[in-house]
Amino acid sequence: MEYRRLGRAGIKVSALSFGSWITYGNQLDEKASIELMSAARDHGVNFFDNAEVYAAGQSELLMGAALKKLNWDRLTYLVSTKFYWGLPNKFGDGINERNTLNRKYLMQAIDNSLKRLQLDYVDLVYCHRPDPHTPLEETVFAMHDMIARGKALYWGTSEWSAADIMGAWQIADKHHLHKPVVEQPEYNLFHRKRVEQEYARLYDELGTGTTIWSPLASGLLTGKYAKGIPADSRGSLKNMAWMQEKLTDAARNTIVVKLGDVAKDLGCTTAQLAIAWCTKNPRISTVITGASRVTQVSENMKALDVAVKLTPEVMARIQAVVGDHHD
Ligand SMILES: NC(=O)c1ccc[n+]([C@@H]2O[C@H](COP(=O)([O-])OP(=O)(O)OC[C@H]3O[C@@H](n4cnc5c(N)ncnc54)[C@H](OP(=O)(O)O)[C@@H]3O)[C@@H](O)[C@H]2O)c1
Repeated sequence: MEYRRLGRAGIKVSALSFGSWITYGNQLDEKASIELMSAARDHGVNFFDNAEVYAAGQSELLMGAALKKLNWDRLTYLVSTKFYWGLPNKFGDGINERNTLNRKYLMQAIDNSLKRLQLDYVDLVYCHRPDPHTPLEETVFAMHDMIARGKALYWGTSEWSAADIMGAWQIADKHHLHKPVVEQPEYNLFHRKRVEQEYARLYDELGTGTTIWSPLASGLLTGKYAKGIPADSRGSLKNMAWMQEKLTDAARNTIVVKLGDVAKDLGCTTAQLAIAWCTKNPRISTVITGASRVTQVSENMKALDVAVKLTPEVMARIQAVVGDHHD
């Protein structure tokens, strides 16, 4: 495994990390959750990504139970959570705790997440989306206070505009508060512009690190959707019906088949090629992988061996295949 600085922050994250979206609480039970985290850790993964909203709190419960059973030294791994959507009206009436980054919601949400995760603190806490209805200053002070109270070590954003990230950073700078150190954006061969263009100034000016999500575009970049939706795939899940059109898009699947030819020439799988391609961007601190079974973890973790084979010539070949068929 390779370890990279999280932007300008002092901690290092494994170049490949592991997240629990869709899988934990939907596809995987406690036993499987433990097996997958264990497999990732065996490959050197030190960062495990989660969010309050994943399976409506179940994902945090499962990861918390897994961490308790695995009993790893707390110094050796990083855990995250994220806040914005809130939980289905379990704890309140929805007025102040859904789709928001207000102080009341955030301060309550971190305490509930820590209980589900059975942890004293999370290493990273993210504002899962921007909230245009709460003053940026209120959110920045709340995120700072989470850290000041020892409930989180670093904070960041997910899918915020460059302007909002810059604004939050400047508020924190002005008031000597803990600054946002990381952004969690989508990044893969079909989704590039925000990371490569919109955020370009943030990396050097603010030292923003990136923990990128959906490196396989939810599985599309494995090639498994080229002939329809396999029965045991994410695309077949009832609650993922909204994603089916994207996963079966004919133009994109044609490109994935051609990427498969590049992968074949390198002696790797299309999934490994797609993950390796993400790691080639030096602005990426870690690629958060997802998996529904141990065999996928083993396959995906070998992507770093493939990354060294992505010479400028191979990168140009990949670029020629994808062209401008990406956001
Ligand atoms: N901040 C955000 O807004 C945000 C949003 C989304 C995700 N995330 C984070 O990023 C993590 C990764 O995102 P993601 O799960 O969408 O990543 P992904 O790599 O795009 O998709 C992972 C899924 O693809 C399939 N897959 C993975 N490896 C495979 C392989 N080798 N062969 C065949 N199929 C394979 C599995 O689904 P099936 O086997 O079920 O088909 C797996 O669950 C999440 O867990 C979460 O922590 C963050």
